[in-house]
Amino acid sequence: MGKDVIIACDFASTDETVRFLDKFNKIREGIVACDDISVRASRPYVKIGMELFYAEGPQIIKILKERGHNVFLDLKLHDIPNTVGKAMQVIGGYGVDMVNVHAAGSIEMMKAAKHGLMLGAIRYAEKPKLIAVTQLTSIDEEALRKELLIDMPMDKVVAQYALNAKAAGLDGVVCSAHEAATIHQLCGEDFLTVTPGIRLEGDAVGDQKRIMTPVEAKKAGSDYIVVGRSITASDKAVDVYRKACEDFK
Ligand code: C5P
Repeated sequence: MGKDVIIACDFASTDETVRFLDKFNKIREGIVACDDISVRASRPYVKIGMELFYAEGPQIIKILKERGHNVFLDLKLHDIPNTVGKAMQVIGGYGVDMVNVHAAGSIEMMKAAKHGLMLGAIRYAEKPKLIAVTQLTSIDEEALRKELLIDMPMDKVVAQYALNAKAAGLDGVVCSAHEAATIHQLCGEDFLTVTPGIRLEGDAVGDQKRIMTPVEAKKAGSDYIVVGRSITASDKAVDVYRKACEDFK
């Protein structure tokens, strides 16, 4: 089981990303004092999204892997099973540690994604985790009913999509930390819950609707927390990351 803090590197370029991550090098080299051995010894787990990946291509993954980071490639694939399966085979070859699809694409699509990913990652001893997005946090009950024509409460939809992901052989879901306990009850403790919408105490909430602190997310049973602006927008990014690790791990 994970229990790690993933930094959402929502930057526009490789240069910006590397400049940000260089701050963490300084801890390893002992330039910045750091008492926490686990933080000092590790390079942060990072999440790369569509903006950076489409701007820089697979090269960004190579650079981050060479620097020793675990990489969650957040591309949220959603297409016919054949297309997603083939695309996942390519992604598996990048050596990523985690990647995702939309559960709305169906169990058949998720099975094809898993099959393709495992084929692509055949040469890696450590296999990438495949997780599903249940419902985007930007979708509310009204959009669910009026636009997507899903006449069910959000929590029921999220629960069913998580069960579909489990049935397809996926490793877990992206969800709100508020849903982590229910999803573990339904899908088992080993089924990963990867939870964005995290803010450290006193931080700006921004556009996130339902937030939790790392301490609350740990209590709720999240396996990985995804933290973006609380760390990346801080002028004390390394300290905030360390605090999030201490609170969560
Ligand atoms: O800056 P912040 O901590 O809000 O960033 C959260 C990250 O998690 C962003 O990269 C966002 O795209 C991602 N995410 C999310 N909600 C989801 C899925 C992904 O906030 N349901």
